[in-house]
Amino acid sequence: MTDVVDLEAVLSVSNTDVDEVIHTVADHADAIFTWDYEKGARPQLNKLYEKAKHSQWNGETDLPWDTEVDLEAQAQLQVDTFRAFTESYDLKGSPFERWGDKEWATLNIESANWTLSQFMHGEQGALICTAKIVETVPWIDAKYYAATQVMDEARHVEVFAKYLDTKLSGYYPVNAHLKLLLDDIVEDSRWDITYLGMQIMVEGLALAAFGFLHALTTEPLLKQLLRYVMSDEARHVAFGVLSLKEYYEGLSDAEMFERQQFAYEASLRMRDRFLQQEVWDRMGVNPKEALQLVVQDPGRVMFQQILFAKIVPNCKKLGLLDRNDQWLRRRFEEMGVIQFEDWIDTSDEYETLQIEGLEQLRSGELRADAS
Ligand SMILES: [Fe+2]
Ligand SMILES: [Fe+2]
Repeated sequence: MTDVVDLEAVLSVSNTDVDEVIHTVADHADAIFTWDYEKGARPQLNKLYEKAKHSQWNGETDLPWDTEVDLEAQAQLQVDTFRAFTESYDLKGSPFERWGDKEWATLNIESANWTLSQFMHGEQGALICTAKIVETVPWIDAKYYAATQVMDEARHVEVFAKYLDTKLSGYYPVNAHLKLLLDDIVEDSRWDITYLGMQIMVEGLALAAFGFLHALTTEPLLKQLLRYVMSDEARHVAFGVLSLKEYYEGLSDAEMFERQQFAYEASLRMRDRFLQQEVWDRMGVNPKEALQLVVQDPGRVMFQQILFAKIVPNCKKLGLLDRNDQWLRRRFEEMGVIQFEDWIDTSDEYETLQIEGLEQLRSGELRADAS
């Protein structure tokens, strides 16, 4: 990484409302009716909408919730990874000096819980953003599609909450930096910024993160849950790319510059500020001391870059990389993520991520019900 994370600044922002039950944000947007009902005026959005209708799954009945999740065994599997990390550093005088397998295993359990908790909160952000898009986007095909995404996001919040509640030990409150990012996206009055913030940046990152975790986890319930969620997320990111491509072609340089800056700010936040500080608090370790070591971990640096595997090609497709003298390209170069620019963009990739056999499963069920 070329720039050093300012840990002091990151840690100075923390969630002080961990007991609040509701959180209110003004969304500053006009609800837009359209009297142009021509379905399929935007064929790619219409195709996505038809696909979404056939890709609905049921979080209660399509996942194997009777799977026994053995957290301790899962955690032990990961301890070797942590040991490799610890052996590459001199831990004398650090909070980890006296840690044994038990502490590393606990850290693994807490980290998994924190990560899935933030996924759950992010999913609620997506639910709210997409409901807002139903109101604010001026095109009927986009309203139709967004309506299916609202249902998808409700299901995602539902399954993550159920997993945390029934398989793990409850959840962490929303991380302060994630909350601020979601607030900024929801508050913005421009309809395309909801898409850019949520479908391109947050969901682009989530799609990469889900893919990484899906490949890594050996827990069969979580693996299937993530696979199902990914098939939906790929459509959502494609929805963002297909909608904004048309709109961004018509924007001036000055308008595009605002979008480039927004994308860059969101990138920095997502890369540098989502640091599991609450996990260290819970484990009784000084977060700053712990994070000074963690941010140097080469595995973490690699993971942080992989998170941009979807964002960068999608930004390229939208024309965001190269407008205004390649401003965003330069920023992504500094962040060390430009190498993803020619990876497949999600408007092409989403079809390969759809779940095979979901329609057969549905029709099989229908037949079973009918007999
Ligand atoms: Fe989602
Ligand atoms: Fe989504």
